[in-house]
Amino acid sequence: MRNDSVNDKKQLLALAQQVQRHAHAPYSNFRVGAAIIDENAQYHGSCNVENAAYPLGQCAEAGAISAMVSAGNKHIKQILILSPNEEYCPPCGGCRQKIAEFANDQTQVHLAKSNGEIKTLLISELLPLAFNLDTP
Ligand code: THU
Repeated sequence: MRNDSVNDKKQLLALAQQVQRHAHAPYSNFRVGAAIIDENAQYHGSCNVENAAYPLGQCAEAGAISAMVSAGNKHIKQILILSPNEEYCPPCGGCRQKIAEFANDQTQVHLAKSNGEIKTLLISELLPLAFNLDTP
C-alpha cells in the first residue's frame, strides 16, 4: 500500500475520532464519527446528531457531506465511518445514496472499528445499481 494512502486513512481516522466525541446520541447511545477527503484534499468531519423526535436525527455521514458541500466541494474521494464498538458500522441505505450523489467508481468507503481496524470498500460495492440522473 502506498504511503500517502496510509496517511490519508490515518488522518481520516483521527478526524473521525475527534468529531465522534461530540456525537449527540442520548437515545441510541451509539456514537458515530465520519470523515471525508474531497477532490481538493480538504477534510470534513461530522458526528451523528439525534433528536427527541427520533426520525429527525441525522447520521454522521450526512453531516460530513453537508460540511463538504458547504465548503464548496462536490466530490468524495474517500469517506471513513468510525463505529463506537468492535463491529464495523456500514452506512445505512439512505447514507449510501447520499454518498453516491458525490462519488464515482473510485470512491472508497473505509469502515473503522473503535480499535482502529479498517476495512475498505467501494461505494459501488455498497450500493450497486445506484439510482442517479445519468441513468438512461
Ligand atoms: N448512524 C450513523 O450516524 N451512521 C451510520 O452509518 C449508521 C447509524 C447513527 C444514526 C443514529 O443516531 C445511531 O447511529 C443509531 O442508529
